[in-house]
Amino acid sequence: MTDPDTATENPPASAPQSGRVALVTGASRGLGAALAEALAPAYHVVAVARTTGALEELDDRIRDAGGAATLAPMDITNADAMAQLCRSIHDRWGRVDLWAHAAIHAPALGPAGYLDLKDWEKAVTVNVTATGRLISFLAPLLGEAGRALFFDDPRGGQKFFGAYGATKAAQIALAQSWQAESERTGPRVSILAPRPMATATRRRFFPGEDRGALASPGTEAERLLAAIRGDSGRDPGAIPG
Ligand SMILES: NC(=O)c1ccc[n+]([C@@H]2O[C@H](COP(=O)([O-])OP(=O)(O)OC[C@H]3O[C@@H](n4cnc5c(N)ncnc54)[C@H](OP(=O)(O)O)[C@@H]3O)[C@@H](O)[C@H]2O)c1
Repeated sequence: MTDPDTATENPPASAPQSGRVALVTGASRGLGAALAEALAPAYHVVAVARTTGALEELDDRIRDAGGAATLAPMDITNADAMAQLCRSIHDRWGRVDLWAHAAIHAPALGPAGYLDLKDWEKAVTVNVTATGRLISFLAPLLGEAGRALFFDDPRGGQKFFGAYGATKAAQIALAQSWQAESERTGPRVSILAPRPMATATRRRFFPGEDRGALASPGTEAERLLAAIRGDSGRDPGAIPG
């Protein structure tokens, strides 16, 4: 993609035959990167995150597997950049078939009475405000036939999880409203429940735990996609596997 300037694309080894387009927000690592890789055989993946090097490594893995990606190294809280990206997607493809929203800010754990206000504001901005804005940008691109994926982590109300739990709960509540509103009209909105995974977010909360006991993001991506595969509506071949 040449427009916006910040989005880059290398010539794909081979483009997916389906012509389907997936947008993965938070694609540089963890579950988002694993989903991008798992989706790439069937979709052209537009991969959004801030870390350019990690996006380039994802692009290499996708290309090695015969897929194609467009890298969009940008911050999801940058409204202008995200609007420009969505406009470019519209101009090039006219739609998004699947949006997986894995981007998350994991604020430090701590008592509610001692919130780090800067970190709290960042959690609200990334996890809630940007999600609401993205839903409004993506709804017209997804249209009736598209599908959106959100990833629950029900920590709301738990000790020391105030900032993460509250912003995650708000994000998911917003997605649930969109899901209920779209039930008859589409897009199909799914709220999925990943198992504990060995990711940066998990390490921030549980730095000393045995990561060998956690699921890998790759395994979870495959499991979550398998769970929705039978629920692909008018496009039963849409979810790879
Ligand atoms: N890990 C678990 O055990 C677990 C369990 C249940 C649910 N979940 C949920 O699963 C989802 C993915 O979590 P994860 O553990 O895979 O997270 P992760 O490995 O920490 O990855 C987070 C992703 O979000 C991106 N990101 C963060 N802030 C961003 C911003 N401002 N703009 C653009 N991208 C941004 C990061 O990329 P950059 O830093 O490069 O921008 C990264 O790609 C989240 O919704 C999380 O709540 C996780």
